[in-house]
Amino acid sequence: MTQQPASVAAPAAAKATQRCILPECGAVYGIRERIYVCPKCGGPLEIDCGGPGIHRADALRGAWEARGNSRDPRDISGVWRYRELLPFDEAAPFVTLFEGNTPIYEAPRSANYCGLEALRLKHQGCNPTGSFKDTGMCAAVTQALVLGAHTVVCASTGNTAASLAAYADRAGLQPAILLPRGQISAAKLAQSMDYGALVCEIDGNFDDCMRLIQELGEDPAIYVANSINPFRIEGQKTVAFEMMNQCNWKVPDHVVVPGGNMGNSSALGKGFEELRALGLIERLPKLSVIQAEGAAPLARLFASLAAAKTSTEMPLPEALESEAHPRTLATAIKIGAPVSWKKALRAVMRSGGKIISVTEQEIADAKAMIGRDGIGCEPASATTVAGIKKLVAAGHIRKGESIVAVLTGHVLKDPDYVSAYHRGTLALEGADGSGEPLRIAGAFRNAPQHVEASKSAIVKMLEQKR
Ligand code: F0G
Repeated sequence: MTQQPASVAAPAAAKATQRCILPECGAVYGIRERIYVCPKCGGPLEIDCGGPGIHRADALRGAWEARGNSRDPRDISGVWRYRELLPFDEAAPFVTLFEGNTPIYEAPRSANYCGLEALRLKHQGCNPTGSFKDTGMCAAVTQALVLGAHTVVCASTGNTAASLAAYADRAGLQPAILLPRGQISAAKLAQSMDYGALVCEIDGNFDDCMRLIQELGEDPAIYVANSINPFRIEGQKTVAFEMMNQCNWKVPDHVVVPGGNMGNSSALGKGFEELRALGLIERLPKLSVIQAEGAAPLARLFASLAAAKTSTEMPLPEALESEAHPRTLATAIKIGAPVSWKKALRAVMRSGGKIISVTEQEIADAKAMIGRDGIGCEPASATTVAGIKKLVAAGHIRKGESIVAVLTGHVLKDPDYVSAYHRGTLALEGADGSGEPLRIAGAFRNAPQHVEASKSAIVKMLEQKR
């Protein structure tokens, strides 16, 4: 265990509470209470780590940066490194696979594609199980151990499942996952099988799985690790801390993320707000969320809110009209009733960002462009670059502004999609499997070439391609 500099406070558990985010309720609960929504009003919960007053910002920043050379597993983890702002005791049974520490890349071709001078991509697909979920899962599974749970469950479009399976294994807990049958990429499903999870394939979509999870969460032996769980969000908020550290604490004008169940956007929003409250950053980046057109209930709600109201604090709408039959080839975000929509909407409105949707063709072409930067990502992640292109065209993002987009999953998470795009066979089935499929043109196609097995044929092919 490393020695803490005297000026840095201990982790926040002693002062942390769970709190209903709805201003009209605001009920407060202890952090050992196993609850996922407010027992009084059903509102979303978030963790209050004790307010900015308990830390000295410069001391915190110095301590985090000093941990770069430590061999303590908690310092190597890109999440536990920030433990002063996480709701756990020093003695907590920290679970880690050395998550976080993901790179930020300059992406010049993607920048040019969007009409920007520069664009940075923070690649959360470089996490241990290949997606951003790991930064939250280490915290949720640690809390499962703190609470003495035996089984940890989640509903998933594939990535949460793979992450939960891996982290629960590490912690010696039983992982069980609910997946919509036939709607998960084969690579993600394979990960969960390999990590030894109980894989339950459900006839229904992700939202049906999520409803079942909420029922299962009533069983005291079962702990829910979906992003409805506020401890997941605590882990994921550290991505904002790591990003700012990598940006040398210079706040980008915009941060752009994909939106599905809305945990990621909620977590980043919380992370940036905590940094601002501590005085570690002077303003918030404008946080924008991009959904796929066929699964865009929050983008629709956002568009319906009067433009004047969306930039300031205003009462959150009571209800979200869900999408009964979400459709997109970006299966990670094929979600019609996002559970964390209120938190995400609040974060976007406070920051002055936008929530918009992009088409299947826009996602596919943006994904290929990210590939051309030598980076690659899964389809859901590419909504960011597609959305940024639209936000530039609409004048919300200006050419010379600084932008970080968060890529959420690794390119190998969905190889079938990638291959179909480049071979020109990518298509979205019609609703209910009927009607004409929507064919996606491979505008930046790069299909394999059948070449004769001779040097001259290969050289000729290279010359044609130059
Ligand atoms: N990108 C990827 C690659 C995802 O897997 C997800 C969500 C998102 C974006 C959206 O993030 O839900 O926090 O708004 N995947 C979840 C899952 C739903 O089960 O793996 P969000």
